[in-house]
Amino acid sequence: MSKLCIRGGKRLKGDVIINGAKNAAVAILPATVLVDGISVIENLPNIQDVRILNEAMRSLGAVTQFTDEHTLEVDASTVYQHSALAECISKMRASYYLIGALLGRFGKAEVAMPGGCDFGGRPIDQHIKGFEALGATVEVHGNIIKAYAPKLVGTRIFLDVVSVGATINIMLAAVLAEGTTIIENAAKEPHIVDVANYLNMMGANVKGAGTDVIRIKGVEKLTGGKYTTVPDQIEAGTYMIAAAITKGDVYVRNIIPEHMESLSSKMREMGIGIEEGDDYIRVTADKELKATNVKTLPYPGFPTDLHPQMAVLLSTATGVSTLIESVFENRFQYVEQLKAVGAKFTVEGNKATIEGVEHFTPAHLHAMDLRAGAALVLAGLKAEGGETIVHNTKYIDRGYEAIEEKLNALGADVYRTAH
Ligand code: EPU
Repeated sequence: MSKLCIRGGKRLKGDVIINGAKNAAVAILPATVLVDGISVIENLPNIQDVRILNEAMRSLGAVTQFTDEHTLEVDASTVYQHSALAECISKMRASYYLIGALLGRFGKAEVAMPGGCDFGGRPIDQHIKGFEALGATVEVHGNIIKAYAPKLVGTRIFLDVVSVGATINIMLAAVLAEGTTIIENAAKEPHIVDVANYLNMMGANVKGAGTDVIRIKGVEKLTGGKYTTVPDQIEAGTYMIAAAITKGDVYVRNIIPEHMESLSSKMREMGIGIEEGDDYIRVTADKELKATNVKTLPYPGFPTDLHPQMAVLLSTATGVSTLIESVFENRFQYVEQLKAVGAKFTVEGNKATIEGVEHFTPAHLHAMDLRAGAALVLAGLKAEGGETIVHNTKYIDRGYEAIEEKLNALGADVYRTAH
């Protein structure tokens, strides 16, 4: 298994181009199942989850082709299967979108249970509640979920928790249903708007995505078209934090600055320079950083997927910061790893108290999930006087395309080794 070796202490400077959003891509690809025609999806990140979903689409009967490394053509008119049971499918979280999409297309679906990063229980009861409300019967046999419905009929669904996955999945099941579906207490993340935009471009009638009430009027049929995936808010945030940690000067490009507001405002509070253009943010950090308090929340709140990276930034500020996790119950698994480079943490329940330190010491670190893995790379960029080795890079590669190339283009010293 490969490792990333980082000789820290370099000030990052220059431009970094952000790819399309993983969490939009992994929903749009299953959504192509609903289209009786060809979808051309541009700006897909070149990451493992996209490759797995491409294989999943082919196993369902779709004809797919990468026309370049970020563009996939999917002809789903040939999809004939409603079962997606391959082992690789069960390893990724977003496989659950195949349930909504296959149910919407065929009135039946059989999908291996979702895996993904482990930060405590990640139930899908709200997805199931939504499918059942639309008229489906849902059964769980071992690690296989089966859903079937003679027909799906629109209805009003109130989500008990704000869930990205349930909001998108219900949207997928409802676009071809009879009548109107109303999702209340919906999640509002940019990738939800992106999936709705994709579906609408293909002929769906989805209104209100990005607010907490989404109305989906069922249509007879979706036809093909071309769609460009939204920029990845979390990849962008990770590089913004990398710039600040290294006291750098970085233009983070190909992004939507409004999507970064919760991070940008925290960074400003810390004394970091944030300059916004139409499609970029310039991050400059030349002063001492001030401690602050952060709480993760559904969008537009501070994203849980930037929690571990923010923990590293807070560890480099002067004074005591707090970081409260309110989306996932167990996101603090990275804490022991960060303590190994010298970070000072105490965690009680869902709250970390972080005392800033001036220096990090290089160490061997072990990624345990995607965003925590990215945070360990950030810690390595700060640790001077030797090499920080980040093991288990497979987690990081799930969500970051060419991370070492992008960092090295900014002046970092990172290399990958298989040994
Ligand atoms: N929840 C339930 N029941 C459900 C669904 C969710 O109780 O049926 C709870 C979860 O346990 C959690 C909260 O609701 O406490 C929010 O979970 P959500 O459903 O929004 O998360 P998800 O769909 O499982 C997606 C992303 C995650 C990201 C979260 C939150 C994908 C494939 N995954 O997960 O991304 O952390 O939304 O924004 O879109 C990542 O990219 O590293 C990642 C983990």
